[in-house]
Amino acid sequence: MSGIAINRRFALAATSLCVAFAIAACSKQESTTPTGTSAPPAPAAARVLVVGTDAAYTPFESQNDKGEIVGFDIDVVKAVAQKAGLEVKFVNTPWEGIFNALDQGDRDLLVSAITITDERRQTMDFSQPYFDARQLIAVKSDSPVAKFEDIKDMKVGVQNGTTGDEVVGKLLGKSSTAIKRFESTPLALKELEAGGVQAVVADNGVVVHYIANNTEGGFKTVSDAGFPVEKYGIAVKKGNAELLARINQGLEGIRADGTYAKIYASHFGAEAK
Ligand code: ARG
Repeated sequence: MSGIAINRRFALAATSLCVAFAIAACSKQESTTPTGTSAPPAPAAARVLVVGTDAAYTPFESQNDKGEIVGFDIDVVKAVAQKAGLEVKFVNTPWEGIFNALDQGDRDLLVSAITITDERRQTMDFSQPYFDARQLIAVKSDSPVAKFEDIKDMKVGVQNGTTGDEVVGKLLGKSSTAIKRFESTPLALKELEAGGVQAVVADNGVVVHYIANNTEGGFKTVSDAGFPVEKYGIAVKKGNAELLARINQGLEGIRADGTYAKIYASHFGAEAK
């Protein structure tokens, strides 16, 4: 309660400062200075960038017991930011609204195992790819499914609005009622365990991790060479060329100095490609 009161008082003070000096940049500043009744607004370059991520996607992004957002994507963006001289903070952002939040300016960038697609490129800009993925099918261990086509007449779970949703839509028909769309991939996999769907199609890294950590679920994976290779990118608001250039520079830097390979190995235990 008192924290809110203090924040509000500070917000008021900050607002009147803005008015007093009529500094246009004030509106962009967040009132995060703890004691700063007279602290001047930070220059735009020092603003903490807000990174949106749907933190229900282990091992790429998840929340640990302490509520901290952790994972491969998080480590990559932290390292990129450090290289590029950017300050970042991560905010859990449901997948459903994540692209809109970027477009509205509520998030400065997104890292969320986001596959770069031509369709998405029309409404946002992507960094150079930082990770290769592919769709993977999860089924019960005793399932007869051996290839993607085998799930054509089954109930299939996907995370709504993902590339998994897209490929399954192509096979079953976009408006097929056999496609069960979930808010998160773990929810789709829970439904597979409960028997509500007979297959789930999602990114390989997440499916593999889930199955390895839920052995009692009795799942197996089925791969299909027909699934295209997907490339993950960091997204910025369309036209934010300056930020994009710095992110790309950071990515290049962490690849060149071995940081990327270290992060990769720490999460996937293998050599970075
Ligand atoms: N790579 C897939 C896509 O871009 C799934 C990403 C979902 N990510 C997440 N954090 N839930 O559609």
